[in-house]
Amino acid sequence: MRRAVVESIGHYLPERVVENSEFEATLDTNDAWIRSRTGIERRHFAAEGETTSDMGIKAAQAALANAGCSVEDVDAIILATSTADLTFPSAATMVQHGLGMNHGFAFDVQAVCAGFLFALNTANSMIASGQASRILVIGAETFSKLMDWTDRGTCVLFGDGAGAMLIAAQEDETSDRGILATTLRSDGRYKDILYVDGGVSMQTTGHLRMQGKEVFRHAVEKLSNTALEAIEAAGLTTDDVDWIVPHQANKRILEGMSKRLKVPMDRVVMTVNNHGNTSAASIPLAMAVAAQDKRIKQGDIVVTGAIGGGLAWGTAVIRW
Ligand code: ACO
Repeated sequence: MRRAVVESIGHYLPERVVENSEFEATLDTNDAWIRSRTGIERRHFAAEGETTSDMGIKAAQAALANAGCSVEDVDAIILATSTADLTFPSAATMVQHGLGMNHGFAFDVQAVCAGFLFALNTANSMIASGQASRILVIGAETFSKLMDWTDRGTCVLFGDGAGAMLIAAQEDETSDRGILATTLRSDGRYKDILYVDGGVSMQTTGHLRMQGKEVFRHAVEKLSNTALEAIEAAGLTTDDVDWIVPHQANKRILEGMSKRLKVPMDRVVMTVNNHGNTSAASIPLAMAVAAQDKRIKQGDIVVTGAIGGGLAWGTAVIRW
């Protein structure tokens, strides 16, 4: 079977860093509460006028540079976001244009925080079926634009950024690298625990609303279960796992997963402390950091999973 292999990864974070203490001036909150309940210490916010596609372009350029590829080598762009610049066209076609790419195709995928997993799964299937040979899979978000700045239960949690992964068909039949297994799930019964209370057909803009405790409960259970399913589908056990790269929403969710999967925290990649929750960008951002500092190496078994509004969730097992 034609497998998709990770060729490179790149990322972009906006320049502006917002420390927890900045919220103390306008909200009844403090650094100690945010750190102890979430593990978040700081996050990046996009500058005025800096959009999701601007950040996606920069992350994609970094991924292409890291692989030594040009856009001519890319067949398609799949971009996961819930915060596209415009209602249409897609942020993906704006990234395509920004990269100077006029061939192939580009489209957005929307599965909130699980968006990168849905985009990666789609790209993997397109490569396996022979529809494309090399795809840029991007997660890019400006969640700072969705915040209700008077709601201390949500506005301290999120950040902006973009990550991009270049995946390509593995032609070498003898290689065991590639995306080994994926699992996708969704259940619309849980809409009310995590949503934005506005949209085009409602003719309002809206803000993010979340019942944090409920989301937390589903997150640990559902992410651990689908991770175990995907590990088994890949013919592996948790002992084979080198790195878990979960969606970066809350340090305590990462610790919960580590405990349930019996994979120690020193094999769990954590960037939520520096990035906050960047929704669909969180996984490629975390992977980019861990690949750049040489924790994730070629041949490593990497298990990744994310859950978000929908609820929608998914997992992938990759031999890097
Ligand atoms: N500063 C100080 N106090 C706060 C803050 C804050 N920033 N936020 C909430 N509190 C207060 C609450 O008002 C509450 O006060 P009360 O007891 O007087 O009513 C108290 O702290 C406890 O609130 P809880 O919501 O019970 O706190 P909890 O320990 O559950 O932590 C949190 C809240 C951090 C939101 C947690 O539930 C969480 O991380 N949930 C998961 C979120 C998540 O995973 N999202 C992922 C998907 S995101 C997506 O898809 C877009």
